[in-house]
Amino acid sequence: MIGVIGGSGLYEIVGTTRNREGVVVREERKISTPYGEPSGLYRICEIAGREVAFLPRHGSPHHIAPHKVNYRANIRGFKELGVERIITVNAVGGINPEMVPGRIAVLDQIIDMTEGRERTFYDKEEIVHVDFTEPYCSELRSAIISAGEKAGVELKQKAAYICTNGPRLETAAEIKAFSLLGADVVGMTGMPEASLARELGICLAGIAVITNYAAGISGKKLTTTEVVEKMAESTERIKVLLTKVFSIIPDQRNCGCRDALKDARM
Ligand code: HPA
Repeated sequence: MIGVIGGSGLYEIVGTTRNREGVVVREERKISTPYGEPSGLYRICEIAGREVAFLPRHGSPHHIAPHKVNYRANIRGFKELGVERIITVNAVGGINPEMVPGRIAVLDQIIDMTEGRERTFYDKEEIVHVDFTEPYCSELRSAIISAGEKAGVELKQKAAYICTNGPRLETAAEIKAFSLLGADVVGMTGMPEASLARELGICLAGIAVITNYAAGISGKKLTTTEVVEKMAESTERIKVLLTKVFSIIPDQRNCGCRDALKDARM
């Protein structure tokens, strides 16, 4: 099964496309985990002949702030469903001038600036340090890039994501500093989602929708309205892209993600 974590917009669209566009909603699963409750029900669908489980990161309707999301429960819930690959959809602000609002980028690196979030499954007896040199699954990234080409959805093939804690937006000086650090886009939800998946040997790739210029880039005040509007505008393209991705992901995994725990234990 393939997992998708997205904003509530995407989740609702899956629900309302019942019997249309080849999407069949099979069931909604409530899963409890040793880490607490996931953000919502896992909506299990069949798309392009694949079983896909959708989870709305912020709940449905949207009510969980980025710093309050139970990332461990969300990822552990996917594991319980037998999910081996997760694609995340994240709203981001564009830092690099090429990251223009409305564009979609396939993430390739992460800088983590979050604090106070539960960020590991290994905080008891077991000491584990997973390799995170390449934070996103290379096979899944390639599948998304090739799906974009096949489905005619234009993609930026690389973007380094800096994850802030929020919920406030950034200052102009922070964004200038993040740019010097090498960040292309900024968001609040990419971590620890990605490293938790790695800790469970699950592949994960991130699709970023640039919803606004980051603070200080355009000189205009940032609003959640523009974020929501740009996200809504992109939903159709994301759906087309994901449907293509599902049809081309190889049945068996050929990447190293499943071996994340090999040589990672002390
Ligand atoms: N900053 C942080 N998170 C975001 C932004 C931003 O500009 N846009 C969408 N999510």
